[in-house]
Amino acid sequence: MNKITSLYDIKQLTEAQIKNIFSIAQKIEQQPTATVKQWQVGKTAMALFFENSTRTLSSFQLACQRLGMDFLALNIAHSSTQKGETLRDTVQSLDAMNCDAMIIRHPENHTQQQVAEWLGGQTCVINGGDGTNQHPTQALLDLYTIERLRGNIKDLKISIIGDIKHSRVANSLIDGLKILGNNNTHIFAPPQLLPEQTSAQPASDINQALEQADVVVMLRIQKERIANLPSRILDHWHDHYGLDESKLKLAKDNAIVMHPGPINRGIEISSQVADGSQSVILQQVKNGVLIRQALLQYLLD
Ligand code: NCD
Repeated sequence: MNKITSLYDIKQLTEAQIKNIFSIAQKIEQQPTATVKQWQVGKTAMALFFENSTRTLSSFQLACQRLGMDFLALNIAHSSTQKGETLRDTVQSLDAMNCDAMIIRHPENHTQQQVAEWLGGQTCVINGGDGTNQHPTQALLDLYTIERLRGNIKDLKISIIGDIKHSRVANSLIDGLKILGNNNTHIFAPPQLLPEQTSAQPASDINQALEQADVVVMLRIQKERIANLPSRILDHWHDHYGLDESKLKLAKDNAIVMHPGPINRGIEISSQVADGSQSVILQQVKNGVLIRQALLQYLLD
């Protein structure tokens, strides 16, 4: 099995490698915090987020600090990119300050792979989200959450509902589920928001998607990536593509409800469901720090 040094795409990982990252996460949970804080002392991580972020950026910062690393988040709005500096010059300058891991979020697909090439393959580059393409650490934390709460991923009915086409979260999760051997992944969206190609099964209506589901993943409409969506779809989103308590009854009694955040209450998910007993949204956030610690340990060790 080839050890990788950077992660741009969940498809770079095999089932065994994903399980290895999960076992590091479990080990971290069992170790004293002070022990884990020695694991990567002296190393430096830098974050370059060209799009807004709450959970991903904060959890990467905490993950790095909880491994004992120095962490620097470049303030893009106040950086020299605003003076016309190219991305290549920016990342090469930061790398010259001895960067071990560079975590990047960028609106354009495949930027992280390009950055890794510019940096000569020495620095670990981690994708914190590229355009509509991939968000591999979100997929890892989602898969970890499902496995911890519902056991063997292979056997579960998993339904992803919302703007699938523009969601790097959905794309990477569908890929990750396939790697872990799940052939029971369903998607539901208005036809305009379905991907052209997918290994998941498009459901004919929301009831079919929800019936007997073990895991329901709800997604935000990625308005910033949609040129025009008819108002007849947008105005009635909650009725047709949103999750409320009555629709959730179609899923299994012990189904879990997930959402990567940020949630738009009353649109893709009702407050009752988001705050309800089946919601694991905050457990996803909690696992996000842990899984990013585990990934950094896996890539840097
Ligand atoms: C997502 C993202 O940025 O891709 N959020 C996240 O990282 N948790 C999803 C979104 O913006 O809707």
